[in-house]
Order: sequence, then C-alpha cells, then structure tokens
Amino acid sequence: MIITLDGPAGSGKSSTARALAKKLGGVYLDTGAMYRAVTLLALERGVNPDDAGKLDAIAAAIVIDFKEAEGGQMVFIDGRDVTAAIRAPEVDASVSAVSAHPGVRKKMVALQRGIAQKHKTVIVEGRDTGSVVFPNAEHKFFLKASSSERGKRRALQMGQAAENVQGVVKQIIDRDSKDSSRLISPLVVPAGAVEIDNSHLSLDETLDKIIQFLA
Ligand code: DC
Repeated sequence: MIITLDGPAGSGKSSTARALAKKLGGVYLDTGAMYRAVTLLALERGVNPDDAGKLDAIAAAIVIDFKEAEGGQMVFIDGRDVTAAIRAPEVDASVSAVSAHPGVRKKMVALQRGIAQKHKTVIVEGRDTGSVVFPNAEHKFFLKASSSERGKRRALQMGQAAENVQGVVKQIIDRDSKDSSRLISPLVVPAGAVEIDNSHLSLDETLDKIIQFLA
C-alpha cells in the first residue's frame, strides 16, 4: 500500500508521515531529502543551481540511503552522514532551483519508485508524490496550513528566535511560489487527494483525521 502526503513547506508532512509510518508499521520516504541531497552536492562542488547538465550528472551518479534512528531519519550520500547538512539555509535557498530540472526529477522519481517497490507499506511525502510519482496510490492526502503557522513551525525547527519568524515566513512563501510555478511536476493538490488544513490541529489530531480515511 502506498500513502502519499503532499503539501507546502512547514505543512507538517514530515512529522505526520513519520508518525503514520510508525503506526502502520510501514516505511517512511522523504522525497524532499533526496532533492536536498542533490542540492548539497551541487553546492559543495561549486555547481550553479541553474546548470542543468552538471546537475543531471550529479543526480545520475548520486547514491542516497536512509536509516531510521532514535532521533528521526538519517540521510547518507555515498555513505556520508548528511542528515544535518541537507537542512542548512544554503540548501533551503537553492533546492527549488535544483529540483526544477527535468533530468534531476527523472532520476529521483525512478529512485522513489524503486524504493517503494521493495516495501509492503510506504508513506511517502513531498510535492508531486500523489500527482506524478504514485498517481495510483491507494490513499492521497494534501496537507496545508496558514503561512504564519508554517513559518512558526519552520522557525522552531531551525532553532530561530521568535523575532525571526517574519523572515522565515518570507522564505517559505518564496520557496512555495517557486515550487508551485515550475513547469515540471509543480506542487498541486493531486486528483483524488483529501485536503487537510492543520493550522489549528495537533500532530495527533492530523493523524486521527488521516486514519479515518484509511478505514
Ligand atoms: O519537503 P522539503 O522542504 O524538504 O523539500 C525541499 C524541496 O525539494 C522543496 O522546496 C521542493 C523539492 N521537492 C520537490 O520538488 N518534489 C518533491 N516531491 C519533494 C521536494
């Protein structure tokens, strides 16, 4: 069974998908982490996020692994732990440009489908997982929340002080606008997806809502 959770930055996809995977005994697949991994390698190698040829080459050769750990999921590039590095502000700033390249997306989508094939229950989260990667998923959800709430959550995640929330809100609105307006696989509500606005819901309440639809 494949369950997809799409939505903009800070909409609670990661915490919800992880908790759902735990509850259902399934595998959690964070597709955003994969685009972040490609972006990190590009930045380390001094590759311009607009250089399609070089980004395609990075995506073609990259080996990404995930490992479940106590504090959450760990991410590795060629065996190197990049769990923290892929969440750096520099990666946030370039990941939309990197993930807009068709060659990069083609490789990531192939990897995502390959991972899903190996598991019985997969909870996958991202921007195009219900629309493009797994259009025939058994259950699709689209999570959303007000931009101020999403900004607060991101700021908290990044350990930013409350006075920086406005700046974080601006950054996520900018990233959402880039992710929603790109030509290939933009962020959309997938056909058949259940929309959940969790601006005023806790993680448990969001989970309960999702579980109602799985019955
Ligand atoms: O979920 P996240 O914030 O870690 O995702 C980082 C970026 O990766 C997001 O701004 C756009 C891109 N992304 C994508 O294009 N398609 C996906 N399925 C997941 C993420």
